[in-house]
Amino acid sequence: MAMETTLIILKPDAVQRGLMGAIISRFEAKGLQICGAKMMQIPMSLAEQHYSDHKGKPFYDGLVGFMTSSPVLVLAIRGVGAIAICRSMMGATFGSKADAGTIRGDFGVSNSFNLIHGSDSPEAAEKELGLFFNDGEVLDWSRANECWVYDLSGGDPE
Ligand code: RTP
Ligand code: MG
Repeated sequence: MAMETTLIILKPDAVQRGLMGAIISRFEAKGLQICGAKMMQIPMSLAEQHYSDHKGKPFYDGLVGFMTSSPVLVLAIRGVGAIAICRSMMGATFGSKADAGTIRGDFGVSNSFNLIHGSDSPEAAEKELGLFFNDGEVLDWSRANECWVYDLSGGDPE
């Protein structure tokens, strides 16, 4: 599996409810690496681009309104297979359906206020990282404990 970087957004409800630290802690404890972090209030045009695949759906206007309503924390998170790992840690889209043990399952009950976004494919991750981060804002940095997070004895992280 490849080393991947994924775009995570802690949505306005996560920021307002003071859950940023609890959610970031889960990713760090898992062994994923935070390579970019930026707090911002998403402009309407960026929210529309980010969720362009959903344009025309009944929930689209509410979704864009919610995402622009209050600050978010945007993260770039790296690891082997990070895209799928983060999606499974997030849980199902709706808080009411997400399994216990997932972020959406443990921290929310709402279907529209579902705390977190994560890229769903390598193509989406590349597009979304480009939308939310400028050149140089996603860092390549070496973790001191990388050799205890992964087995590096064969050359590649296992
Ligand atoms: P996200 O893109 O935010 O990470 O969420 P997701 O992949 O789990 O879900 P997606 O299908 O991409 O939907 C994007 C966001 O739209 C809202 N939604 N509402 N009412 C509905 O049927 C409905 N479906 C989706 C959710 O806020 C979801 O996160
Ligand atoms: Mg999605």
